[in-house]
Amino acid sequence: MDKLLIEGPAKLSGIVKISNSKNAYLPILAGVLLSSKRVRLKNLPALRDIRTMVKLLENLGVKSTPDITKANYSFLADNITSLEATYDLVKTMRASVLVLGPLLARYKRAKVSLPGGCAIGTRPIDIHLSCMSKLGAKVQLEGGYVEVSAEKLIGTRIVLPFPSVGATENVMMAAVLAQGETVIENAAMEPEIEDLGNFLIAMGVKIEGLKTSSIKVQGTTVSNLKEVEYEAIPDRIEAGTYLMAALATHSEITIENAIASHLDCVIDTLKNMGAKLEIGKRQIKVFASTLKGVNIDTAPYPGFPTDLQAQLIALATQSNGQSIISEHIFENRFMHVPELNRLGAGIVLKSNAAIIPGNLQLKAAPVMCTDLRASAALAIAALAAHGTTQMQRVYHLDRGYDGLDIKLKNLGVNISRKNDSEE
Ligand code: UD1
Repeated sequence: MDKLLIEGPAKLSGIVKISNSKNAYLPILAGVLLSSKRVRLKNLPALRDIRTMVKLLENLGVKSTPDITKANYSFLADNITSLEATYDLVKTMRASVLVLGPLLARYKRAKVSLPGGCAIGTRPIDIHLSCMSKLGAKVQLEGGYVEVSAEKLIGTRIVLPFPSVGATENVMMAAVLAQGETVIENAAMEPEIEDLGNFLIAMGVKIEGLKTSSIKVQGTTVSNLKEVEYEAIPDRIEAGTYLMAALATHSEITIENAIASHLDCVIDTLKNMGAKLEIGKRQIKVFASTLKGVNIDTAPYPGFPTDLQAQLIALATQSNGQSIISEHIFENRFMHVPELNRLGAGIVLKSNAAIIPGNLQLKAAPVMCTDLRASAALAIAALAAHGTTQMQRVYHLDRGYDGLDIKLKNLGVNISRKNDSEE
């Protein structure tokens, strides 16, 4: 198992280039299953979750060909040999359930392992399943698997009880090969949903209402779908993480390949805290700033993203004055708090709120990564802390941050990766 050693307090300087979005590419990769024509995807981030999704597609019979850089892939789903996403893959990555909609729509049947519990809450898939039933599918649960089947899917109006990102994506993809029009109300509005929509449009699907909570998909047939080449949007969560890393260390850096409009709420929050930022075209410049505390609640897009809550808590330890950061999307998404407290953060948890005293001098300690964004928060705290922090179980970080150690090293941080077997 790898661990990271980060020496603080660090000063970052220079330019960091953000990779393309994992959360945009995961549904787009599932969307490959809709078409029998070639799909070319450009600049996939080098991440464990992406490799897991590609492996899942290969298990289903999709032919995948990376180019020499292994960043660009060509996929061909013209001969699917299995309709099952097995437990071993789903348990490592919940987004595997995104194959449900496309498989059901194209092959009339799909079997996917239930994701079960995960580090940040129970995360059921009831909304995904009720959407599939509304399109006409029979849903059966047995032996830890969900099996969906339908002679044909028929487009309809579906009102989501909550704007679930994954359920919106699953139903959009199922609707592509349903008969007639599907209208998704109370749809999630995250930029990754818009990106999936643009990918499907590039394939020849008619979609209206992207960027709104009411998305209309016109059903079509497999033979009408076109060959497509697509590149996903930059990763807004990765960009937000580097923004906060720079601010926590009073550093000046330039973040390239970042779309500021995808981070409106985050940028407003940071500016209200006192952050000096300069927004350019696909670039954000961060200047050394003195920050004050913040009171903020996570919310579905365009609200403050739950995926940056942990990193904001780490940043709040370095701000002047108390902060209160409340989590409203996932129960139990505070696994980073006890670890941050090992560095001396003094955070108190009260129900779904973290109270951060602020203005703290953190001290290095060995810490454990518990989930993806918790790991990013620990990395930010380690950059601010005095001494060398040892972060264990960095495989969580590797699920979602493309070359974090290399990017931080390029920004001037003394960081190294070690394998337990080297000791
Ligand atoms: C996606 C993102 C994840 C992000 C989350 C919220 C991907 C691959 N992952 O996850 O990084 O943190 O959006 O922005 O894009 N829920 C149900 N029943 C369901 C579905 C969801 O109760 O059928 C609940 C979940 O338990 C959670 C909330 O709804 O409490 C939000 O989940 P959802 O929006 O579906 O998140 P994901 O798509 O899993």
